[in-house]
Amino acid sequence: MNKRMVLGSRAHSLFLLFSLFLCLFSFVKGELRLNFYSESCPQAEDIVKEEVEKLYHKHGNTAVSWVRNLFHDCMVKSCDASLLLEDTSSTISEQNSPRSFGMRNFKYVKVIKDALEKECPNTVSCADIVALSAREGVVMLKGPYFNMRTGRRDSKESYSQDVINSIPNHNDSLSFILSRFQSIGINAEGTTALFRSIYAEYLKGRCPSPEPDPKAVAYARNDRDTPMIIDNMYYKNLLKHKGLMLVDQQLVTDPSTSQFVEKMAVDNDYFYEKFTEALLLMSENNPVTGDEGEIRKDCRFVN
Ligand code: HEM
Repeated sequence: MNKRMVLGSRAHSLFLLFSLFLCLFSFVKGELRLNFYSESCPQAEDIVKEEVEKLYHKHGNTAVSWVRNLFHDCMVKSCDASLLLEDTSSTISEQNSPRSFGMRNFKYVKVIKDALEKECPNTVSCADIVALSAREGVVMLKGPYFNMRTGRRDSKESYSQDVINSIPNHNDSLSFILSRFQSIGINAEGTTALFRSIYAEYLKGRCPSPEPDPKAVAYARNDRDTPMIIDNMYYKNLLKHKGLMLVDQQLVTDPSTSQFVEKMAVDNDYFYEKFTEALLLMSENNPVTGDEGEIRKDCRFVN
């Protein structure tokens, strides 16, 4: 072998070694991807869909809970199902935080998990259940369907001490709320789209207010017969000054969001597109993947 060939084959071996290393690294590090369970549990996404639909028909307010769970789980450190951990001698649940006010239906996560465990034991993470159930929840609320990457793993701890700093309060300013969402990569346009699922609509039902117009605020909370529909009506109402909270009106007047409110009010497809993008960004915030974390057997407790 001449010198050139030796060098060539050395370079080739180095290249192979490097590729192997990259492969191993990406395996250990892991990544979210479409159809993550295609081999280990091909029915996983269908099972979640089926259970979410069944639950919705029995308990109509579950769909909104799945959407809210995604926000409260992903905003606090990572989409890792830390939200689902319950109190134990060593764990303080994130659900006890004042920011988790009114959160409900956690018990039905177990129904979804049990159905998955029956079909594919120890395979589908609780974090992916949070993500996929939110997607199906949106569909139940007549919102858009979208593909979602999976492969999230579950945290081994709760981050109860981080909840207050991560989830905004209902009387925080718009600029503070925008900066919280910006910190997980969601810009003003995406945050404007997420406002559709934010609290104000619900608070109106819970605490009806005579201001600014009693007819405009008369509507149902989700445990009544007329569940929320995810569409652009909220933005149309905002432009008619029917927002209940100060922050709703800020959304219309603040130059960083007003243009998006106006566009969303007239174009439902544009709203759906931005809503989907923002929800997906939220669902992929800093996930636990690869050989980190675990696949919890019972979403309420670490293994
Ligand atoms: C600025 C950030 C947010 C604040 C301050 C906030 C606050 C609240 C509050 C106070 C409630 C009412 C609780 C009750 O009356 O039971 C609520 C409910 C809700 N929030 Fe948020 N939220 C925010 C963002 C979001 C986001 C980004 C989403 C979803 C993507 C979301 C989804 C929901 C849903 C679906 C409900 C109704 C849950 C139910 O009726 O069971 N929120 N939120």
